[in-house]
Parts: sequence; C-alpha cells; structure tokens
Amino acid sequence: MRITIGSDHGAVDLKEEVKMVLKGFGDIEVTDVGTFGTDSVDYPDIAEKVCADVVSGKSDRGIVLCGTGIGISIAANKIKGIRCALCTDVYSAKMAREHNDANVLAMGGRVTGIGPAGEIVRAWLQAEFQGGRHERRVNKIMALEGK
Ligand code: RB5
Repeated sequence: MRITIGSDHGAVDLKEEVKMVLKGFGDIEVTDVGTFGTDSVDYPDIAEKVCADVVSGKSDRGIVLCGTGIGISIAANKIKGIRCALCTDVYSAKMAREHNDANVLAMGGRVTGIGPAGEIVRAWLQAEFQGGRHERRVNKIMALEGK
C-alpha cells in the first residue's frame, strides 16, 4: 500500500511517530509532503498536497495532521473523491473504513497522544470496507459532490 502523509506545524512530531508506525507494517510505501519544521504553514495547503496524491492514484490512502485535526479534515473533504475521517479513538477509525470507506485519516497532534494515534492508524489500516448497504450510503455521499 502507498500512503501520502502531511501535517502543519501543529503535528510535526506526531507525523514522525505515525511514519514509524507505518514503517512497522513493512509493506507500506510512504510519501511525506511536509511540513518538516516548526515554521507556521497553512493546513489547507497540506491537505491539498496529500489529497492530490490520493485522487490521482499515486497513493492509495492519505493521512493528514494538524493541531486539532479539524481544519485539515475540513479542507480535505472539500476535494472531490476524498472521504476524510477525523478520528480520536480506535472504534471510530475502524468504522471509518468499514462503514465510510474513508480514504484519508485525520488526527490532531495537540489532541491525540502518540500511543493512541498508533492504535488509531493500525485500526484504520487493518479494517476493510464492508460494502452492501454502506456502499449505497457512500455512493450517496459522493453524489453530494455534484450538487
Ligand atoms: C494552527 O495553529 C492550528 O490552527 C491548526 O493546526 C489546526 O488545529 C486547525 O484546525
């Protein structure tokens, strides 16, 4: 699996920790679009870079991080083809895949600690979309993009 990850200055440390978790899977190719320092950057720019890779097919999934995860998830969900789930717990991360087929995960570096974040990432990667009635609902979500 290929994953593109990005954060604003509010989650640079968390981004490094998440990359370590991804490395632990052994078969995940990670693209890091930054940011790489503590200088202030605008989270919509990071969301745009990560989601461009997902929409183009360069990556299968994306992970976006900011201070709360809120701004960057809102920005990601403005991009056609993106279903971004802001998760602060393992159950939501699992459901985001099983029910919502979320192709982008968002977390907050000032909200979610390193340990829980690792568990959230693992749950989101290991759960599978269940299809069926959930597919009908996801299709309705995607149809909203055209309205
Ligand atoms: C940046 O200070 C902060 O606003 C951003 O990281 C995020 O929390 C926005 O939702």
